[in-house]
Amino acid sequence: MSRDDQQTLAGTRPAPTGAPDTAVIKVRDVEKLFGQLKVLDGVSLDVMAGQMVAIIGRSGSGKSTLLRCMNGLEDIQGGDITICGHNVGRGKSNRADLRRDVGMVFQSYNLFPHLTVERNITLALTLVKKKSKAEARQRAEQVLAQVGLAEKIDAYPEQLSGGQQQRVAIARSLALSPQVMLFDEVTSALDPELTVEVLRVMEDLARGGMTMVLVTHEMAFAQRVADQVVFMHKGKVWESGPTKELFAAPKTAEFAQFIGTGL
Ligand SMILES: Nc1ncnc2c1ncn2[C@@H]1O[C@H](COP(=O)(O)OP(=O)(O)O)[C@@H](O)[C@H]1O
Ligand SMILES: [Mg+2]
Repeated sequence: MSRDDQQTLAGTRPAPTGAPDTAVIKVRDVEKLFGQLKVLDGVSLDVMAGQMVAIIGRSGSGKSTLLRCMNGLEDIQGGDITICGHNVGRGKSNRADLRRDVGMVFQSYNLFPHLTVERNITLALTLVKKKSKAEARQRAEQVLAQVGLAEKIDAYPEQLSGGQQQRVAIARSLALSPQVMLFDEVTSALDPELTVEVLRVMEDLARGGMTMVLVTHEMAFAQRVADQVVFMHKGKVWESGPTKELFAAPKTAEFAQFIGTGL
């Protein structure tokens, strides 16, 4: 079964491809400085194949920086990051390979306003992957169906709601068949009812076996869907572990306060 087929399956999670217990992302003792400011201070975490890991924490705790480091968008000053077999963060990694294997979606969807939904999705397929127009359109149809927007293939971004645009942005990322998807507060700019439809797409992806890391403020969603939760505070992994265990028994006052249980 191809990854593409696998991603469209709903229901229980299939066994991830590759050996079980394979860490697809390994972050070891990472230090990241902006000038004198240490933004990541000895961060370590593993993301296993097929897992959804939610990163939560206050604004400024280093969540976005951590995701950007994972995706090779930032240099790191200490430690080591491996993602889908690529060593990133120190000098030049093979950017093209990395872009193919790791998809990233941000709060701002950044669709090209003058291009149709189809063209927004197929641009990279035809230009970078050298797919034919027909092949690319077929792939666009597949990934749009996956995010529930098959009928919008010929629409322009301005004709779509914010939630629909964000789903197109997710589809655009999926079109390249990434092994891992990183999401940085993709629902933060959306109204609650539009948030729901985007979360549903992410939940479908998780159930289809996609390996995902998401930074989110949607605590109920993280609690229900994430396999692991990482609580960041002051540039450190303050607490982390299997979601149920973590929420059932916070170990630090900071995490307890963050989730509003007091300690
Ligand atoms: N490009 C940058 N230059 C300087 N400081 C930055 C930069 N990006 C982020 N920071 C700082 O790093 C810290 C962590 O930021 P960020 O990773 O965006 O946190 P979060 O996503 O948890 O809100 C903050 O103090 C922020 O001001
Ligand atoms: Mg952020």
